Amino acid sequence: MSLLSFENVNACYGAAHILHDLDLRIEAGERVALIGRNGVGKTTVVNTLLGVAALRGGTLRVGGQVLRRPRAYDAARRGIAVVPQGRCIVANLSVEENLRLGAATQRPGPWHLDAIYRLFPILRERAHTPGTALSGGQQQMLAIGRALMANPALVMLDEPTEGLAPVIVDQLAEIFMAVADQGTALLLIEQNMSLVMRVADRYLAMAKGTVVAQGRVAEEGLEQLHRHVMV
Ligand SMILES: Nc1ncnc2c1ncn2[C@@H]1O[C@H](COP(=O)(O)OP(=O)(O)O)[C@@H](O)[C@H]1O
Ligand SMILES: [Mg+2]
Repeated sequence: MSLLSFENVNACYGAAHILHDLDLRIEAGERVALIGRNGVGKTTVVNTLLGVAALRGGTLRVGGQVLRRPRAYDAARRGIAVVPQGRCIVANLSVEENLRLGAATQRPGPWHLDAIYRLFPILRERAHTPGTALSGGQQQMLAIGRALMANPALVMLDEPTEGLAPVIVDQLAEIFMAVADQGTALLLIEQNMSLVMRVADRYLAMAKGTVVAQGRVAEEGLEQLHRHVMV
């Protein structure tokens, strides 16, 4: 049974029809990259699951169960955590309070505050500072930590390395592999194809609101992958 599946999914923002007959499937423990140029609808895939974009046909399943009216809470409760594009750290909360927000669904599993602090020692050091006082890279670590606190079966990361220095991107690549080693599946929306090659074993490429190519990352070269994101 797939952790997440979209079959012939169509989705809209009001009158703007963005996803067209999109198919996507993620199995337990997989590391999947979702790639494509700006504006092709990658974030809208996440937004459809969260109920931000309206599902207008097709079938969306989480853990085999059909979601007719997806809601953010349903995805979280069924083991899907999202690290949103732009991180969305809550400004008036400390680092630790931001992390605790992620545990609202209280699923059992290996991730708890102390495990997150072992993964990101800098977050322990800064536990009581406001989340938004952190650097960009640290805020991304906080967003990832917050997602892990839900003990998800699948984490969806929407452009987690956008705007970060290469040394931080390298650290995050290690973190993604450490998370995957715990058996957690990853859906990585990413523009950095060398990161995709390091982290993902499978990719899906989107254009104009649908999946137009897919395959095993190991069977494609960097150039082949780049072709899907060139402007
Ligand atoms: N809230 C919204 N309302 C209307 N249109 C939107 C909204 N968010 C995104 N779009 C449009 O949907 C399309 C896909 O956007 P998005 O999913 O964010 O693309 P990507 O993440 O691949 O860059 C774009 O044309 C964008 O302008
Ligand atoms: Mg996006």
